[in-house]
Amino acid sequence: MAFKLTINGETREVEVEGDTPLLWVLRDSLGLVGTKFGCGAAQCGACTVHLDGTPVRACMTPVRRVGDKAVVTIEGVGKDPVGARVQEAWKAIDVPQCGYCQAGQIMSATALLTANPKPDDAAIDAAMNGNLCRCATYIRIKAAIRAASGQGV
Ligand code: FES
Ligand code: FES
Repeated sequence: MAFKLTINGETREVEVEGDTPLLWVLRDSLGLVGTKFGCGAAQCGACTVHLDGTPVRACMTPVRRVGDKAVVTIEGVGKDPVGARVQEAWKAIDVPQCGYCQAGQIMSATALLTANPKPDDAAIDAAMNGNLCRCATYIRIKAAIRAASGQGV
């Protein structure tokens, strides 16, 4: 089946089964490999992208459910001023260790700061709870979110 998707501000067409997870459409059909496969079961957050600004797990989102919602991935999030600030803070604080989880972390952090520009620690914990990091970079992730929000690290 053909699907027309809006991805990072561009219209892209793909020919896939409707139950194909968005993650595989992004990675395999469109070559947008910044979004990672971790658990495949909505448990780790590595595959997080935005649908109309809301963070979703691309591994559990069938492409037929995307409809005309705007998809933003790690490749496009820097076009958004909040996403750009988050990426700058990530670099300044040197957050990643192996890096595998970090695209998903940045997508969740950007959605958080768009909805809540000055989150307190509890709000950060709640928003980032579903993004696991096997390298345990959690302290630097929180510091980067605070920096990107203009709050003291
Ligand atoms: S790969 Fe989607 S949540 Fe883990
Ligand atoms: S930086 Fe390695 S899993 Fe998060």
